[in-house]
Amino acid sequence: MTHALEELRKFVAPEILFGNGARELCGAYAERIGMRRVLVVTDPGVVAAGWVAPVLDDLSAHGIETLVFSDIAPNPRSAQVMNGALAYSRGECDAIVAVGGGSPMDCAKGIGVVASNGGHVLDYAGVDRVEVPMPPLICIPTTAGTGADVSQFAIITDEAHRAKAGLISKSLVPDLALVDPDMLTTMDATLTAATGMDALVHAVEAFVSNASWEMTDNLALAAIRRIPQALPACCSDPDDKASRRAMALASLDAGLAFSNASLGAVHALAHALGGRLDAAHGECNAVLLGPVMARNFKHVPKERLALLAEALGIRDGEETERIPAWFNEFRSSVGIVAGSGKTDLSDDEFIRIARTASVDACMATNPFRPGVDELVEILHDALD
Ligand SMILES: [Fe+2]
Repeated sequence: MTHALEELRKFVAPEILFGNGARELCGAYAERIGMRRVLVVTDPGVVAAGWVAPVLDDLSAHGIETLVFSDIAPNPRSAQVMNGALAYSRGECDAIVAVGGGSPMDCAKGIGVVASNGGHVLDYAGVDRVEVPMPPLICIPTTAGTGADVSQFAIITDEAHRAKAGLISKSLVPDLALVDPDMLTTMDATLTAATGMDALVHAVEAFVSNASWEMTDNLALAAIRRIPQALPACCSDPDDKASRRAMALASLDAGLAFSNASLGAVHALAHALGGRLDAAHGECNAVLLGPVMARNFKHVPKERLALLAEALGIRDGEETERIPAWFNEFRSSVGIVAGSGKTDLSDDEFIRIARTASVDACMATNPFRPGVDELVEILHDALD
């Protein structure tokens, strides 16, 4: 070996089909992959929005049998994943199609891991713990932001410990992502804002991550350039097709960036906080972004911060100092306000959340390692 191993970088991604109408090719692709009996993983909201029935019809038109599993709450719990794995094995399925946002897609990944490897889904929490590849998985996202359709991450709630467990493995990269911007039009403004802020946080954390490199930087900056215009436009007009397309692209770019550069303290804290409060992932991220970055930026080279400011469209001369405040103003502008009933946590609970976050897998790539006291301060900044 003539080069140090730390110089090496890798990049994983699924096959991606992007554009309006992509969802209509699910059956054709499933047939080509060799799927015969598919567990369709979704949730009741997505079924009610009308996105599941056409996928079932399309699969059936290609001679593929289907079984629907939709008993999934936001922030999917490990017990729900295990129920899905039971449905998969009892139904003698050989593949999975996920239709929905982050919760069904993460749940589908968990089901796939258990279907191939046995045991309990939480046995595979951590980095590279999945040994046997999942069954074939097609993801059809109905939100723009989670990135689960392209990432090697799945987040499952550990209900016994009121925490979120991250599974990170190349085995969790789906085989195919059918990214269809038309499907984003049924999201309301609250879900649009929360999932869109998640995409922004993915891009920013990937950009400042210790594991970032040129390929992930390009994708992260591309997402950061689109979101300041596209997200507010989607929130004010759900049928704005050009902005929905831009957010679908931003979600894809940010998802590929963070899947390969990993994340940081915003996600570590959001996992701990969201697990404790059963709160929306995107909203936790949104309120934490400014306070975390105010500290992270002391450990990021000035020239990289200048690139970030430029991508955000901040051009008033004092750009890099303004970025954390800009993040706070931006999330308020899309309707996410801090301190919304979350401040009734006790001091002990703040410390417990900070301790949980300090050992989250995402913390490993944050530009610096905050102590528990500093994480408590960040939580107060975000929530008070
Ligand atoms: Fe996220």
